[in-house]
Amino acid sequence: MSAEGKTFLVTGANAGIGYHVAEQLAGTGATVILGSRSATKADAAMASIRAVVPGARVRHLQLDLADLTSLKAAAGELDRLDAVVCNAGVMIDDAELMYTTNHLGHFVLVSWLMPLLAAAPEGRVVTTGSLRGKKVKDGDAYARSKQAQMLFGFELARRQSAVTSIVNHPGGALDSITFPASLLLQDKAAGAWPAVQAVLDPDVRSGQMLGPRVFGLRGKPRIEPVRGQLADEALAARVWEESVELTGVEPA
Ligand SMILES: NC(=O)c1ccc[n+]([C@@H]2O[C@H](COP(=O)([O-])OP(=O)(O)OC[C@H]3O[C@@H](n4cnc5c(N)ncnc54)[C@H](OP(=O)(O)O)[C@@H]3O)[C@@H](O)[C@H]2O)c1
Repeated sequence: MSAEGKTFLVTGANAGIGYHVAEQLAGTGATVILGSRSATKADAAMASIRAVVPGARVRHLQLDLADLTSLKAAAGELDRLDAVVCNAGVMIDDAELMYTTNHLGHFVLVSWLMPLLAAAPEGRVVTTGSLRGKKVKDGDAYARSKQAQMLFGFELARRQSAVTSIVNHPGGALDSITFPASLLLQDKAAGAWPAVQAVLDPDVRSGQMLGPRVFGLRGKPRIEPVRGQLADEALAARVWEESVELTGVEPA
């Protein structure tokens, strides 16, 4: 599919699934902006994309999602945007830093990007969750941070008609897959498929969720039912209000 003329931003695009999202989107002819805190890693990723996609239109945007006060300036570097893929994420012991990076950073970034996305013909926000975010167990701080991103995506769809908000999750995606793990999981290039489809597919609607079709773990993406905690509108509203309170901004 050609997306020539469009501009997409992918956070955490210098490695892992985000790299593959950027590479696959670059293959459509779109301009792809790699949001990354390291210019050196972004340069290496862009060289790799250009080797796979000759003539790829890629560039780097300096972006540290853990530094909330820096994100207004980062967003200010852009002059147009058709979609942002909120992909960057960490799994670390520091629960506060993890919540900031995985959820609040993207909440703030999207807030500052809203004018550009609303000005696009059909601006899209693609948030990245996790299977673990579907049903959060007490004390699972990673799952809580990913669920917050997913609830944010669904709530954005309810509150904002100016953009299309799609939630995706990559299933189980490892850097290199060896038998027998490959029976259950997939590699990170395949882990990128739901996000790429969320950016490009004209038939996906705001508020929908995409994930791998085989047990939610691997395979081609499909639209998944939104249920349980993810369908809890009161919980989503609470996450939204708390995010506004903690960051002082709101995607409006
Ligand atoms: N892999 C899976 O099976 C799986 C399953 C469910 C959900 N997910 C989600 O999918 C997304 C990608 O996962 P992955 O496995 O590809 O992770 P990964 O290989 O560890 O890559 C994470 C990316 O996030 C970036 N990042 C981390 N902290 C950042 C910050 N403060 N500011 C900007 N960028 C930052 C990293 O950049 P640096 O190189 O600078 O650290 C890197 O580019 C995450 O949101 C993750 O939660 C993954």
